Amino acid sequence: MQAIEQLLQQAHAELEQCRSNADLRALELRYLGKKGKLSALLRQVGTLPPQERPLFGQAVNQACKALKQAIAHKREQVAQQELQQRLEAERLDPTLPGVPLRPARLHPLTLTARRVKSALIGLGFQFVEGYELEQFEYNFGALNYPPDHPAMDDQNSFHVADGWLLRTQTTSIQGRIFEQVQRGERTLPLRIATIGRCFRYENVDATHSHTFHQVDAFMVDEGVSMAHLKGTLTQFARMMFGPDVRVRFRPDFFPFVEPGVDFAISWKDGWLELGGAGLIHPNVLERYGIDSERYSGFAFGLGIERIPMLQYGVDDLRLFLENDLRFLSQFPIM
Ligand code: FA5
Repeated sequence: MQAIEQLLQQAHAELEQCRSNADLRALELRYLGKKGKLSALLRQVGTLPPQERPLFGQAVNQACKALKQAIAHKREQVAQQELQQRLEAERLDPTLPGVPLRPARLHPLTLTARRVKSALIGLGFQFVEGYELEQFEYNFGALNYPPDHPAMDDQNSFHVADGWLLRTQTTSIQGRIFEQVQRGERTLPLRIATIGRCFRYENVDATHSHTFHQVDAFMVDEGVSMAHLKGTLTQFARMMFGPDVRVRFRPDFFPFVEPGVDFAISWKDGWLELGGAGLIHPNVLERYGIDSERYSGFAFGLGIERIPMLQYGVDDLRLFLENDLRFLSQFPIM
């Protein structure tokens, strides 16, 4: 009997020292597990004289029960302490200043593209998506470039696979649209525009990049003339640059227009070239079965980077492509 009492005292003393669940589990195994010290006493019952057995057995059982209860109690205490420690360690200070959020903003080229788009939509053009990876045929062949014509050298491209290249001009949309007319999927008259990335294999400098953006717009109807082209471009330029802007045409050559011009806008004391334009060459229309005696059209295309360069006085186009937030965050959000 004394042995039971001693063991229980010892167990309680050890229990006092337990600091964690793991300690408690170990103690439980030491005393109450299969090979535990109290369990061993229980097994001794059978070796005692019969008259002592009930009393001894009862005493061991009570000791087991008491220890179990004490362990359970201690377990709760330990859990409370652990929680308290965690709360202490992970204390939240709501008075600390927060991490400031930097509002996202659109890239100046995206903002410009949106303005271009809404101006042209206002003038009645429907926007379509072109293909950055384009067939040689649409980029050049459909646009009346004779095979090996030197005009193609001005637009040296990245050739990706036989007959496929990264488009050098968004004008490559024309052949695709005229094909849709030929297949009866679209009907004349047309007012179509597209905007997106173009690529040219050329030396990069302050005004030229291997990757840049263009917008192209064209219209086909009966009786379309250079007057319509000039009127539309003037209106477009005013929407983009202000009501006093004037547009100047000078003769230029592009195989897919006749006559062809480059156009410039009045800017400060001079003129600034923006892009190319002209009346769509009859060869282009006839190639797709459009009667060039009855229908005519104009087309124009320009580089997008030029516009924010002019508006914000940026002198190097590469800045738009370098993703330097110190540069990009200087532009107004809208
Ligand atoms: C063309 O690309 C013709 N497709 C434009 C056109 C359309 C003419 C419809 C007639 C009818 P050009 O190669 O000149 O033309 O390029 C037009 C504009 O794109 C240029 O004025 C310039 O603003 C821009 N551009 C051309 N190459 C680059 C480049 N490497 N980097 C940045 N901008 C460029």
